[in-house]
Amino acid sequence: DVPSLKEAFKSDFFIGTALNTAQIEEKVPGAAVLVPKQFNAVTPENIMKAEVIHPEWNRYNFELSDKLVAYAKKNKIVVNAHTLIWHSQLPQFVRRIKDADSVRMFFNEHITTIASRYDGQVYSWDVVNEALNEDGTMRRSIFLDKLGDDFVVEAFRLAQKAAPNTKLYYNDYNIEQPKKRAGAIALIKKIQAAGVRIDGVGIQGHWHINHLPLKDIEESILEFSALGIDVMFTELDLSVLPNPRDIVGADVNQRAAYEAKLNPYTAGLPDSVQTQLAKSYEDVFRLFLKHKDKISRITFWGVDDGQSWLNGFPVRGRTNYPLLFDKEFKPKPAFYSVIALKSKG
Ligand code: G3I
Repeated sequence: DVPSLKEAFKSDFFIGTALNTAQIEEKVPGAAVLVPKQFNAVTPENIMKAEVIHPEWNRYNFELSDKLVAYAKKNKIVVNAHTLIWHSQLPQFVRRIKDADSVRMFFNEHITTIASRYDGQVYSWDVVNEALNEDGTMRRSIFLDKLGDDFVVEAFRLAQKAAPNTKLYYNDYNIEQPKKRAGAIALIKKIQAAGVRIDGVGIQGHWHINHLPLKDIEESILEFSALGIDVMFTELDLSVLPNPRDIVGADVNQRAAYEAKLNPYTAGLPDSVQTQLAKSYEDVFRLFLKHKDKISRITFWGVDDGQSWLNGFPVRGRTNYPLLFDKEFKPKPAFYSVIALKSKG
């Protein structure tokens, strides 16, 4: 019998997964069985993003998010809603706006309508997602350009009013890296100094088995939790494939050879890499457990390797193996290495 992650870590932190549309609609039999058994938190991978939930000025599409909330309730799982304000996946009508007043109107209405509708039904919101550049400065976006750099504080202020019973988080990738981390800390302090509520920070955790930044992760846990907020790892996956820029000496004219280097494991993951993946997951979970008093949730960005976003990024059509369950929903050695950390006590 396969052990359960959520049982193994129940006294430590929530164990979550992202769910795609088919999984939310329970159209994927393997996921329908596995999710309630393994996870006690879910994040919608796409359906609460503005382009899906708010397709036109006065039209919202709550069908899928209502389904998600019902699914979670039925299975006693918490929903970590994702995400209210993000520069990406914006609906057409927002991308066409030219004036600041209309952006402000969208911003206010979007946050207030959605956050109030799900207050008390979802556990948390990623209020703002990915507002920072790698050097820690504010990232250019329609929100920064039209509303100025107080837009993050304003988003939390609106969310706090609309969703008094929901935890409010800032979420971003690479914020374990020193410069971007400093930017995130400054941003969080700014929200706090304005007297606005922020309950936590989500470090996404899209890492690679060959570059697992354990030292930066540990420093981040300590520095973020010193701000008096929850720390979470919200989109964990560990890529095993080469980044295109790391393929040196490949002749791009030798198309087939180049593509084979980009996508080397189409026939399955070799044992040596499988072992390395298991070791990387063990290392990072050992660190999470060391700081379990400061970490409230670990969420994987997907249930199984078959549907991971990394099969299409940054190159389309690759076969990646970044999660704990394979495409047949079977636990991989990495699953057992994580579970074993608990059975060893
Ligand atoms: O559903 C539509 C389909 O109707 C359409 O025909 C098709 C054509 O492109 O697109 C489909 O939408 C895709 C969607 O995933 C659902 O599969 C989008 O193109 C595609 O861009 C979208 O990708 C998502 C990506 O965010 C968008 O930026 C990934 O699934 C999702 O895993 C990824 O998640 C993000 C987090 O939200 C934030 N942090 C980074 C993370 C990874 O990029």
